[in-house]
Amino acid sequence: TRTYVVTGSASGIGEATANLLREQGHRVIGVDLRNADVEADLSTALGRDSAIAGVLEASDGKIDGIIAAAGISAPKALTVAVNFFGVTALLDGLAETLAKSAAPRIAVVSSMASLQDNSPELVDALLAGDESRALEIGAALEAEGPRVGYLNYPSSKRALSRWVRRESIAPRYAGAGIPVNAVAPGTVVTNMTRDLLATEEGRALADGSVPMPLNGHSDAIVIAELLAWLTSEQNTHVTGQTIYIDGGADATLRGDNI
Ligand code: NAI
Repeated sequence: TRTYVVTGSASGIGEATANLLREQGHRVIGVDLRNADVEADLSTALGRDSAIAGVLEASDGKIDGIIAAAGISAPKALTVAVNFFGVTALLDGLAETLAKSAAPRIAVVSSMASLQDNSPELVDALLAGDESRALEIGAALEAEGPRVGYLNYPSSKRALSRWVRRESIAPRYAGAGIPVNAVAPGTVVTNMTRDLLATEEGRALADGSVPMPLNGHSDAIVIAELLAWLTSEQNTHVTGQTIYIDGGADATLRGDNI
């Protein structure tokens, strides 16, 4: 059996992934704000340090896979703190232990939103690892109201997908035999999208920006199955990718423009 760390394990995609891995007979260390093996706030440096310490203690030094699903989509600077640094800082803190596994794997949850309009300035600050600058830019967007504040979300996911691409081939990951990938779901039925999908107007908004001609909105288990494969022993050569699992949204929106 393998030991997996799953963030966002209390709800939605993270919860479905944790359940699936446990059903497969693996050990899961769940990380979330509440209702998790390790309860920590991934939006702050202090919270991330406590998450890392909690996971290292619970793992007895054995981690085979890390799946980072915790995230929020609020039109706020907080969104980049959770979705970008809450992923990358955690991975940084656990990479050394993970590398000791015979088949170490990492997968993170990006989004179709990584292809939407974003703030290039914010994306650059994130990729530079400059959290105070990123929060400053994010707060300025937030102050413009929800429409502009929303840019925090696609910017966080754009940066995360680019981080995966860059880090996957770095010695720390490729050199240590660690595939690093992102999945980019379309619209998934979870707590995050519940309110949006509850009204006809909201559904029209979701389907307008993320058209899903193949099978429509997905359940969280669909995303969990791909995350489980990407972090399984079977995945030896897929790395650096953002894999759209979106019912055809990417093919519809980008067409041949890839
Ligand atoms: P969800 O809201 O059901 O679950 C997210 C989990 O993350 C919650 O349990 C929450 O407590 C946890 N979390 C939030 N902030 C945290 C923090 N500061 N520290 C620790 N844990 C925190 O949402 P869902 O839909 O399962 O989202 C999971 C990931 O999938 C997110 O990264 C989201 O951006 C991404 N995603 C979701 C899509 C959807 O349509 N639902 C589409 C594309 C991507």
